[in-house]
Order: sequence, then structure tokens, then C-alpha cells
Amino acid sequence: MTMQPWFNEAKLGIFVHYGIYSVDGVPESWALFDQVVPHEQYMRQLDGFTAAAFDPSAWAGLFARAGAGYAVLTARHHDGVALWETRLSDLSVVGRTPAGRDLVAEYVSAMRDRGLRAGLYYSHSDWNHPDYASVRHPRPPHPELVDSPYVSPAPGAEDPRAWERYLDYRDGQVRELLTRFGPDLLWFDGEWERSAEQWRMSELARLIRDLAPDTVCNSRLLGHGDYATPEQGLPMSAPETDWELCLTVNDSWGYRPQDVNHKSVGQLVRYFAQTIGMGGNLLLNVGPRADGTITPEQAQRLEGLGDWIRRHSAAVHGTVGGLPPGHHYGPSTLSPDRRTLYLVCFDPPSETVCVRGLRNAVCRISVLGTGRELAHRRTGGLHDVPGDLWIEAPAPADLAPHGTVLALELDGELELYTGRGRE
Ligand code: GLC
Repeated sequence: MTMQPWFNEAKLGIFVHYGIYSVDGVPESWALFDQVVPHEQYMRQLDGFTAAAFDPSAWAGLFARAGAGYAVLTARHHDGVALWETRLSDLSVVGRTPAGRDLVAEYVSAMRDRGLRAGLYYSHSDWNHPDYASVRHPRPPHPELVDSPYVSPAPGAEDPRAWERYLDYRDGQVRELLTRFGPDLLWFDGEWERSAEQWRMSELARLIRDLAPDTVCNSRLLGHGDYATPEQGLPMSAPETDWELCLTVNDSWGYRPQDVNHKSVGQLVRYFAQTIGMGGNLLLNVGPRADGTITPEQAQRLEGLGDWIRRHSAAVHGTVGGLPPGHHYGPSTLSPDRRTLYLVCFDPPSETVCVRGLRNAVCRISVLGTGRELAHRRTGGLHDVPGDLWIEAPAPADLAPHGTVLALELDGELELYTGRGRE
């Protein structure tokens, strides 16, 4: 529960939403909650969850080729179905599905064999647990179903003994995950239905600290996490804390074959570069099919992102967030010694690339990947106001698909002009 250096160094993680919801391709857990399908029908997916082609070393290979440093697997989503052999519930894929395997155990060891950090997602809420009374109501168009078993009386009106049992169950499962698998990261979710006090987050945080203090935890531990988790959209300015953007490749977390609204490789490169340019990590989500295979559409996008990251590794690995908005029209990163600035140009520059407000002299500018040196000159400037830096546009042969990176070697540590000029 202290931020570990590996997290910020990794830059890219792969999120995996894998569960019985992939059998019918319904929204993960939400189909149950919103009664998109009746409860029995949702639970019948247990019988079709084979994991017949589940090969976590193939996942690990793909994630490593994507350029990721870690992965996060849904050990238990809001539907309560555990992907590991839990002693605290009989609802697991080990005992209740044809898969009959401890998927978490296999996943953790495959990731580690490949040198990836292994994270586990865990939902505080469990919409299938008899002691868990959900406080949210199904959305329209099913208002007639508000008497469903998932809707409790008002918060606080629940049976306090049931709530104690529920918290014991949640804490027991987290303890199992920590002691059995020693995950590098715990990615909590499903906290929104109750307050930090109701969830006893301080006690849970203490349990994690006592058992495995090096576990990185996300912020959905309400006040006790290590980093912020914006979801499905970049923040408009760089957060002050450590952070990670979680983002789906298409519009769904779990496998949904009818959702073909995939982001392109170029769009994913943009998300990734903008995220690391603001000092964050990208946690890019895939939703494997029920047999455990990742669709070609998603795999191809991971490979494409990996190609871009490999070519631009110097601008990615070991860097920190770059220029604040206004200096360059695109993201940028900075080497850890703050003496090399990497500018990302998504669209081919037609004449010049301009950097404003740079106080440093520039020793050399080259295109990452081809090494071609680019001419540059300065114009203007007055007293305290640095002149604008104009960099010759790279030739077509030096452009990289989806985004070209220029490396600026500075005469010292980055120094920026942040003033307003003469009033
Ligand atoms: C949202 C979704 C949930 C998903 C999570 C990932 O909270 O409701 O299903 O697991 O995002 O951040």
C-alpha cells in the first residue's frame, strides 16, 4: 500500500474482464443487476463457461508484445463469481463451471513467467450474495422490477448481522487473494453503493498493509488507495497524484460480439501518448471469449500499439510527463534527467513544428526511430521571453505510423517560461 516504482515505470497495463458473462455476451454483471436477462438465465451461463482454450501464457505473450508491464484480471466481478478456488463461497468457476480450473492461479504464474506484474480486480459489492443488499435500483425500462432481490430497503435498513457476515466474506476473499497469489496490485471496484465507513475501508486497508504492504491499490479503496482511476476518458489536465486511465478497446468491458465499435490502433496510440504525456498509465481493457481466447480485433490492436511503443521506447520507458498545455500541440514526455524532451506529432507536420516558451538552448533534434537529425532555429524573444523554436518538419520517410516522435536534446534540465509577457 505504498506506491511502488514499477507502477509508474510500466506505463501500460492490460485489463482483462473475463467471466461467465462472456458466454452469452451480456454486459458484465450489469445484465444481472439491470435485469437485461432474468437471474436464472444469467446464472445458466455457468454451464457454458468452459475456458477450453484458456492459455494465460498466450495472453502474457500478447500483453508483453503490446508493451505492457502489468495486467489486471477480474478475480471477482459484481456478479460474485470467483475465478479462483475460494473457500468463502461456492460460487466459483472451479466448482460451478465446466472450466473446473483455478484461473487466477494459472494467470498469476503465467504473467510472472513472462516478467509481467500480476494485478487482480476485486469488487466490494456482490449482487449474488445472500447477505448483500444492493441499494441501487434497476434503470428503466424495467421500473416494474424494483422489487427484485437485488434492491434493498434504504441504506442502513439492512439486517446488521447480514452486513457483518458480508464484510467477513469480502475481507476473507481479499485475504485469500493476498495469501494465495501475492498480487502486485489490487484493483478495487463496486464501492459506490456505500460509504467508506459502511465498507470499513480502514480495516480492509489495515489487513492489506499487514499482510502485503507492497501491494499497490487503486483509489476505489476510498481514501486508502495509492492512485486515481479515471475511467473511459482522459482528464482535461494532469492529475496531481499518480493515476491510471482505464479504457476499453471497444465500448464494452466484457466480451460482447455485437459491439464492433473498436478504437483504431491510431486512436489507441493517441490515448496512450496523451496519458503518459500527463504522467499517467493506461490500463487498456480486453474482454476474452468464454473459451479464454482474445478476439483478433482486440489482439491486433494490442499488437499495433506494441509496435508503436517498441519504436518509441526511449520516449516511453523511464520517462515522466512532459510539457504542460500550450507549449506544443501534442503530448510530450521527458527523460528522467529532464534533459531530453520527446515531442509527439500525431499528424505529419507540413512545414515546421513549433515549441513555445522553452528557455533552454537545444543541442540536437532527431526523429526517434530513424535517427534523422532535423534543423531548427529560433525567432523572436524579448528579455525574459524566449523566442519560438521552429523545427524542420520530418521528411515522409522519417514519419512513423500513428505518431512521430522528435527527441530534443537540451543544454540542461528543462526550463520553461510561464509568464504572460509585457503587460
Ligand atoms: C465500471 C463498470 C464495471 C467495470 C469497471 C471498470 O465501473 O461498471 O463493470 O468493471 O467500470 O473500471
